[in-house]
Amino acid sequence: MDTMDGKIGLGTAAIGRPLYINVNNNNHKKEFSYMDFVRDGRAVLDLAYQHGVRYFDTAPGYGMAEQLLVDWSSAKKEGTIQVATKWGYTYVADYSPQAVQHEIKEHSLAKLNEQWETSIKLLPHLSTYQIHSATLETGVLDNEKILNRLAELKDTHSLTLGISSTGANQVEVLTKASKLNVNGVELFDLFQVTYNVFDQSLQSIVMNDSLRGKRLVIKEALANGRVFPNDKYSHYEAVYNRLSELSVKYKVGMDAIALRFCIDSIPSYLVLSGASNEQHLISNLKANDIALEEDDINSLKELSIDPIHYWYERKKLDWN
Ligand SMILES: NC(=O)c1ccc[n+]([C@@H]2O[C@H](COP(=O)([O-])OP(=O)(O)OC[C@H]3O[C@@H](n4cnc5c(N)ncnc54)[C@H](OP(=O)(O)O)[C@@H]3O)[C@@H](O)[C@H]2O)c1
Repeated sequence: MDTMDGKIGLGTAAIGRPLYINVNNNNHKKEFSYMDFVRDGRAVLDLAYQHGVRYFDTAPGYGMAEQLLVDWSSAKKEGTIQVATKWGYTYVADYSPQAVQHEIKEHSLAKLNEQWETSIKLLPHLSTYQIHSATLETGVLDNEKILNRLAELKDTHSLTLGISSTGANQVEVLTKASKLNVNGVELFDLFQVTYNVFDQSLQSIVMNDSLRGKRLVIKEALANGRVFPNDKYSHYEAVYNRLSELSVKYKVGMDAIALRFCIDSIPSYLVLSGASNEQHLISNLKANDIALEEDDINSLKELSIDPIHYWYERKKLDWN
């Protein structure tokens, strides 16, 4: 697996829509303004860029985020920006804070072709095209027409193809996807995966050969906000205490420690920040300035929990 200098990329899920799955305490109850949201999202992109971030992850399912990146990146006349997008989810909440349904998943050839019509506008910055939340259940990894279409897009536009994975069986999904090939060439070279202090199941797959030469992009490094002390999760007191001690030791926030743990404990291409505002982004980016000592990494490795429990809890998180 190769790596790049700045180890933090920016995920745009939280700047693309007013509600997102997390445990945050932001007050989203004020009236939603599309124009203000676009302005604030652009400010986060600009700040990330000023601080050296060059990898931006988005998806049609993230509300306005993909269009925001089309507009923002096309104004940047330089070649170091990489945009990764996905296909497979449609945003349906219409920016309503009262929305009940937020997205619809559809892993069909028609959806791929439809969403590609927008994503193609991200060229020439578009580097990576991913199946959004590939699972065994949707059959997408067995659908020859889809795999052939992806291979065609990869060849025509020099894209890196990938999948994002979610759920307790992500290692099984990655193992299957990493072996898929079209015309004798392995199709997927990048895997966007969940890894954090709690769910470290990814460790089992990086120890074998399945991902040799592939890029790992880490998402949900802050466990959707569950790494921060919260009375609702008192069973994580040991994690809070350890992150807090390390935060004092390294003179950065607990978020930067949790992100740095992902950078230092597993070989990845980069780790995504999911910050929705400038203050959190600056705090997250401090992870670029430190390196954890071996003993500290090991002490965090000991805090992992059963992925089944992790995903059970994750499923119960609200859209905030
Ligand atoms: N493919 C998929 O299926 C999938 C799924 C999930 C995520 N992703 C990608 O991965 C990216 C990151 O994932 P994520 O956002 O779910 O995960 P995350 O980084 O684990 O969690 C982000 C949460 O942490 C909070 N946070 C960050 N910094 C903070 C700080 N300094 N103090 C307090 N709270 C802080 C954020 O709050 P604020 O919002 O207030 O900043 C947000 O609630 C997404 O943007 C997306 O690109 C992909």
